[in-house]
Amino acid sequence: MSAEEMYQQLKTKLHDVVPDVELRIKAGLAEEINRLKKERHAVILGHNYMEPALFHSIPDYVGDSLELSRVAAKTEADIIVFCGVKFMAETAKILNPTKTVLIPSLKAGCSLAESITAEDVRQLRAKFPGVPVVTYVNTYADVKAESDICCTSGNAKAVVESLKSDTIIFLPDEYLAGNVARETGKHIIFPSKNPNFASTELDYQMIGWHGRCEVHEKFTVQDIQNVREQFPDVLILAHPECSPAVVAASDYSGSTTAMIKYVEQTKAPRYLLLTECSMGDNIMAAHPEKDMLRLCSVRCPHMNQITLEQTRDALLKTQYVTEVPEEIRLRAYTAVERMIQIGGVGKKD
Ligand code: 13P
Ligand code: SF4
Repeated sequence: MSAEEMYQQLKTKLHDVVPDVELRIKAGLAEEINRLKKERHAVILGHNYMEPALFHSIPDYVGDSLELSRVAAKTEADIIVFCGVKFMAETAKILNPTKTVLIPSLKAGCSLAESITAEDVRQLRAKFPGVPVVTYVNTYADVKAESDICCTSGNAKAVVESLKSDTIIFLPDEYLAGNVARETGKHIIFPSKNPNFASTELDYQMIGWHGRCEVHEKFTVQDIQNVREQFPDVLILAHPECSPAVVAASDYSGSTTAMIKYVEQTKAPRYLLLTECSMGDNIMAAHPEKDMLRLCSVRCPHMNQITLEQTRDALLKTQYVTEVPEEIRLRAYTAVERMIQIGGVGKKD
């Protein structure tokens, strides 16, 4: 597809979302990237949070963490370019070690992944011997390597229910753990530093950790009340990284793809997404008939590091190569592979 054809394609989808002058520049970049992608036998995976022009032009696959992990596990391409954040590129490498996995920016971290270390997990295991460890996929490879099974927002409940144990350690997202506890009817506690506490803690069913997503923790019940007051007919969707109170006050909760599907399959006068703002843009571009309200003052600084320019440079210079030491990868693989086998969709009690 020529740059002009790309421009026309983007214009059809994004004329209400991205100014025309920017679309011309982005169409040129997208055409260059798609050419390089073919030459280098690469596949581009794009998370649902990518900015609209990137999301609608260069990815071969778009989706949530679970869907993109499944694609990464199966691809035959020589190079996987992950337009997402570092833990996602690492997960692709864990699943497909013979491929070159590129992340367009080294600054694309994640506050949840930063919140816990492999040593933290080892200490929890020592404190609660025999208790299975579930870690959210938003963690780094060494943390995954210490876990029994990973989960994503798309299958967290199903993963917890698949374990034949009355008690589990669920790391590191405090809010996701709270939401899963609510859905499964389990109780959750957070480990105390008091050494005498360990024996009584096992009466509880989920042991959590105080990690939070720096984006989703900012949404409040007050935000929901304010929006409902102004737009009484609004349907509110919250990612399960939002607090349990916010999820309870919203109409639906699920992974990023589950939220997209929910909007596509319902006919509300308007929607509010409590998640990274770009996703609202992307839905609006694909479904101009949908009225999307967004709270765009809250954005993911990590996902927003990934641009078309950086993605072009990733393919031109083969940067930045994601590596996972083999000893860690092998242990992390078991936990990630178990996660991939378990499906799940978003829900609202
Ligand atoms: P999903 O797995 O729902 O796409 O979420 C990933 C993420 O980082 C949300 O903040
Ligand atoms: Fe991490 Fe939150 Fe950004 Fe998702 S939105 S990548 S959980 S910081």
